[in-house]
This record gives sequence, C-alpha cells and structure tokens, in this order.
Amino acid sequence: MARIAVVTGGTRGIGGAISVALKDAGYAVAANYGGNDVAAQAFREETGIPTYKFDVADLAACEAGIKKITEDLGPVDVLVNNAGITRDVTLHRMTAEQWMEVMQTNLTSCFNMSRCVIESMRGRGFGRIINIGSINGQAGQLGQTNYSAAKCGMQGFTKALALEGAAKGITVNCIAPGYISTDMVRAVPAPVLEKIVARIPVGRLGEPEEVARAVVFLAADEAGFVTGSTLSINGGQHIY
Ligand code: CAA
Repeated sequence: MARIAVVTGGTRGIGGAISVALKDAGYAVAANYGGNDVAAQAFREETGIPTYKFDVADLAACEAGIKKITEDLGPVDVLVNNAGITRDVTLHRMTAEQWMEVMQTNLTSCFNMSRCVIESMRGRGFGRIINIGSINGQAGQLGQTNYSAAKCGMQGFTKALALEGAAKGITVNCIAPGYISTDMVRAVPAPVLEKIVARIPVGRLGEPEEVARAVVFLAADEAGFVTGSTLSINGGQHIY
C-alpha cells in the first residue's frame, strides 16, 4: 500500500512542487492549505491531489485536519512542515503581532503538526518528518528577525525530535532552501531582489522542483540513516 504524506502549505510554491513530486513517487498525498481557496481548487483540478484547509498555527485545527486525513487516506507516514509566511520589517518598526504571526505559522506549526502524528508514528515504528527551513534561518536576514528566528528554531526542533524518534524508526530532517522562484520571493522589492540574486553563485533563483526532489529523497524508506540533518539548497549563496 502507498505511504501517506501530508504537506503543509502544499498547494502553492515549494509546497505545491513537493506534493506533486511525492505523488509522482507513489505516495498518497494530502495537501494542506491555509486560505487561498482559488489556488487550492486549481491545484486540485490540475493534480488530482486532495486538499485540506486548516490553519497550522492552531493546534485544535491541526488535530481535526489530521483526523480527517487519517479517515480519508490512512495514518500519516510522512509529514512535510512547509507552510510559512513573511512579515518583513526591521525590528525597530516590527509590531508584536508581526512577530507572533510568523512564530505561530512557521515554528509553532511544527509542534502542532508533529504532535498530531508522532504518537501514531511511534506506534507503527516508522515516520519521516521533513521541516522546510530557510537560508535566512542559517545566515540571518535584514528585515526578518521574526522569520530568521522561526526558521532557525526549526533546525533546533529538528535535531531534538530526531533524537527522540531515532529508536522508533522516525527520521526528522530539515531542508534550508535559499531564494526560490515563488510568490514569497517575488514579493521582495525588485531592487533588493536584484542585489540578492547577484550574490547567488549559481546566478539565478532556485526552482521549487529543486527543493522537492530532496524531500522525496529524505522521505524514502531507504533514507532511514539520515536524521537530524539540515540540507542547504541555495545555489551556493551560504556555505558553512
Ligand atoms: N539584501 C541586501 N540588501 C538589502 C536586503 C537584503 N535582503 N534588504 C534590504 N536591503 C537594503 C536595501 O536595498 C536598501 O539599501 P540601499 O539603502 O543601498 O538602497 C537598505 O537595505 C534598506 O532597505 P529599504 O530601503 O527597502 O528599507 P525599508 O525599511 O523600506 O524596508 C525591508 C526594509 C522590509 C527589509 C525591505 O528591504 C525588504 O523587504 N527586504 C527583503 C528582505 C528579504 O530578503 N526577505 C526575504 C523574503 S523571501 C523569503 O523569506 C524566503 C526564504 O526563505 C529565502
């Protein structure tokens, strides 16, 4: 039987590419999304992948969402924590709301979603949790104290949960994409984005599919010895 994969923020951008790549690799995929019904409907019609609308920042909503997915498809084998938002503004202008929104959606969501699947994974002796971090959690980014803190936090979360899951067949890894051609990156003011692209040694933005193929690698049954790691996919922009 096909393994079951859930991708948060799985109908657009990097998440959309991950959902499609996992489906193409034989997984039964559930694509979560938060708000954009039009994009989700188009994605569903184009790919045939079922979509599930719930807010990953809200634990009760995640519990209900995972319950529905489990009823529809079966227990979750692979969780991809991809959903994320930006509220870019320098700290001296940032509001508490802009801080909290990013922390809740990008980092607390990892707790919420992982908490909802971890007991079942432990019980079945298999699980793959893949957290989509960011170069900006590794290197820091002007205008992103909230986002950089949340994405860096995902790496710590990854390492700690990897230790907890290791003896139970559960691997937990992080992927840190650089600047990828998505709506989120295209929202960066053009003159700023030009400066950023000029600092990418490969000389271009990445493509969502270039991140998705790494998720397929980490999700595989054969990747059981890879855990607690962060894989950078950034065109050489940040090497350390
Ligand atoms: N890299 C290099 N220079 C940057 C920069 C960046 N990321 N962000 C801002 N700057 C520069 C600007 O070009 C400008 O330089 P000059 O004075 O030489 O023109 C200076 O810093 C001040 O910037 P602004 O004039 O834009 O100042 P502002 O107060 O109006 O806005 C800002 C500040 C909100 C940070 C805005 O510049 C911005 O949105 N920057 C983009 C931040 C960014 O990179 N976000 C990533 C979003 S994509 C993402 O997050 C996905 C992922 O994981 C990679």
